[in-house]
Amino acid sequence: METDDILSTDRLSSDIKEEAIRPALFKDYIGQADVKENIKVFVEAAKMRDESLDHVLLYGPPGLGKTTLAYIIANELGTNIKTASGPSIEKAGDLAAILSSLEPGDVLFIDEIHRMPSYIEEILYPAMEDFTLDIIIGGEGNSRNIKINLPPFTLVGATTRAGDLTSPLRDRFGIIAKLQYYTDEELFAIIKRTAKVLNVEIEDDAAKELASRSRGTPRIANRLLKRVRDFSLVMGDGVITVDLTKMALLKLKVDDMGLDETDYNLLKTIALKFNGGPVGIESLASMIGEEVSTLEDVCEPFLLQRGLLKRTPRGRMLTDLGYQHLNINRQGTIFDFNNDNDNKE
Ligand SMILES: Nc1ncnc2c1ncn2[C@@H]1O[C@H](COP(=O)(O)OP(=O)(O)O)[C@@H](O)[C@H]1O
Ligand SMILES: [Mg+2]
Repeated sequence: METDDILSTDRLSSDIKEEAIRPALFKDYIGQADVKENIKVFVEAAKMRDESLDHVLLYGPPGLGKTTLAYIIANELGTNIKTASGPSIEKAGDLAAILSSLEPGDVLFIDEIHRMPSYIEEILYPAMEDFTLDIIIGGEGNSRNIKINLPPFTLVGATTRAGDLTSPLRDRFGIIAKLQYYTDEELFAIIKRTAKVLNVEIEDDAAKELASRSRGTPRIANRLLKRVRDFSLVMGDGVITVDLTKMALLKLKVDDMGLDETDYNLLKTIALKFNGGPVGIESLASMIGEEVSTLEDVCEPFLLQRGLLKRTPRGRMLTDLGYQHLNINRQGTIFDFNNDNDNKE
């Protein structure tokens, strides 16, 4: 599971709204210009040739729009989409069942494809390459191999870690696209769009403020918007103003760069417990009580991108910018006296 509910307490209701907020067509998918334009062309070409679209691998940090793009691809192709997630496909029969339920041109979306068991992966190879399914049926003694033809289909795989994919699997994708963090302008547009869908009024200044504090991530932008909306409903008159936004984000402990408590824990731990690093990710994870995968997939990519953290062969190190952002000097003195004084143990 992706750690996508860092700030969310109302998982159920946000799950339902999620569907309404998700753009369904390329024209509503904001940003990722290069990826979008290319995939648009490939989709168009596949339709003109009346062939299935080549297999697509989408990768990048959580919340950047991989699942959304998979659905858009199916929508724009005018086909069905079947979904599965890597770790949930446990038996060969599970995959065989999904594959044989596909109709010509359909999209099979496999999320977290890097977590698919390797014996499942091997079944996928001939399916991706020749649209055939090689399976063994029968028990010991009288087992035999059978080959089933599949309709041509498009596999869309999503992963936060392209590096964890085996190369035979990666090589079978004709289209590989890396999603990037969004600019503040793109997030602004996404926030405005979501506000419209949710039927809430947000002032431009407020949307700008939210955008700059959403870690380059649409999912976070949308989530923060919903929370700020709650504050504006209870404490204001329902219109989201910049003051309300700042107040709400303070309460949610999201700082001016969009860092949350986990990010702070991570950075502070490196600064204060490990002298700025280098420190291995396992030690860090156990020290702050988080999963290694949460730190690697969710926290780190953004901290690296913003230059607060760097990766070295010997481990993670805090950069000068990282120290600056924490208001801590390299001796471990915290300058911000308003901060909680958890610098001394
Ligand atoms: N390019 C985009 N334009 C508008 N909204 C987006 C875009 N990408 C993602 N979103 C929003 O962000 C949410 C998270 O996107 P999702 O596709 O689930 O991310 P991922 O699968 O990469 O974790 C979606 O519900 C969608 O509303
Ligand atoms: Mg997803």
